[in-house]
Amino acid sequence: MELKKIGVVGCGLMGRGIAEVSAKTGYDVVVSEINKELLDKGMAAINQSLSRAVAKGKMTDVEKTTAMGKIKGTLDMKDFLDCDLVVEAAVENLELKKKIFADLDRVCKPGAILSTNTSCLSVIDMAAVTKRQDKVLGCHFFNPVPVMKLLELVRTISTGKETLDTASEWGKSLGKTVIVAPDRPGFIVNRILLPYMIEAIKMYECGVAKREEIDVGIQLGLNHPMGPLTLTDMVGLDTTLFILDAIFAETKDPTFTAPVLLRKMVAAGHYGRKSGKGFYDYK
Ligand code: CAA
Repeated sequence: MELKKIGVVGCGLMGRGIAEVSAKTGYDVVVSEINKELLDKGMAAINQSLSRAVAKGKMTDVEKTTAMGKIKGTLDMKDFLDCDLVVEAAVENLELKKKIFADLDRVCKPGAILSTNTSCLSVIDMAAVTKRQDKVLGCHFFNPVPVMKLLELVRTISTGKETLDTASEWGKSLGKTVIVAPDRPGFIVNRILLPYMIEAIKMYECGVAKREEIDVGIQLGLNHPMGPLTLTDMVGLDTTLFILDAIFAETKDPTFTAPVLLRKMVAAGHYGRKSGKGFYDYK
């Protein structure tokens, strides 16, 4: 199946990244938000990201204008009518996502693929509210979307082969390397990433090592772009806690028990970079 038009639900950090890379690689894009203020903010961020690419000589002004011209912002779900593939990138709330999937199923043309960018929630639960379970899968992108080279596709027990193949071709056309994960809590990457983050937070909490020693150790000793505490600040402590609680709720596996410090920091509003304070200060 040939894809021409991509829909993205949500123009937050992940949604706008998915919209940007899709437009840059030649797709027509419709991206929605819940109000004009959020939509304007998201579109301005895409514009700024593309301007940065021009300033760095990665694209020309003309290419930037072409890419921006391919993105249509909307507040109306009906604009997803003629999309070939839609990625839902709303906040991590299963009930909200199920409602969005029910709406998309009603609005989108029969052959359209519906996907979710969830980092931890059960994809089959979203597929089950539609009449096209075989056309539903997870498309888990990584932050920052324009930079990160991976797309983790999540296959439910109902995802059809053609759906998976089409999504895989789409991912490759965006310049991503595609892996296929089962619809199990944490998929592949977060199932490994979260216990690693937990260990770093517990080591810091117990005073085993200073935050800088943990981060520099991993960064230089394992050649990671950033250490685990800096990464948790970037992902967001609230998001990290949400993912842990979601995986724990589904598996009851004690490996995914959130550290007490993480819970307390989130309660205090220390969400990491986005709030100006996490394991480090960003003010
Ligand atoms: N959008 C577009 N480009 C960006 C960007 C953004 N938001 N942030 C950085 N870049 C680009 C820069 O323009 C720069 O490009 P050039 O090399 O061509 O000049 C390049 O990325 C490097 O950026 P910087 O020099 O500014 O900074 P850096 O070298 O410290 O890299 C980083 C920043 C890319 C974020 C890097 O530190 C990194 O890769 N960190 C790890 C990120 C990671 O692990 N992400 C996954 C998080 S987990 C997740 O997303 C899944 C989940 O479900 C929780």
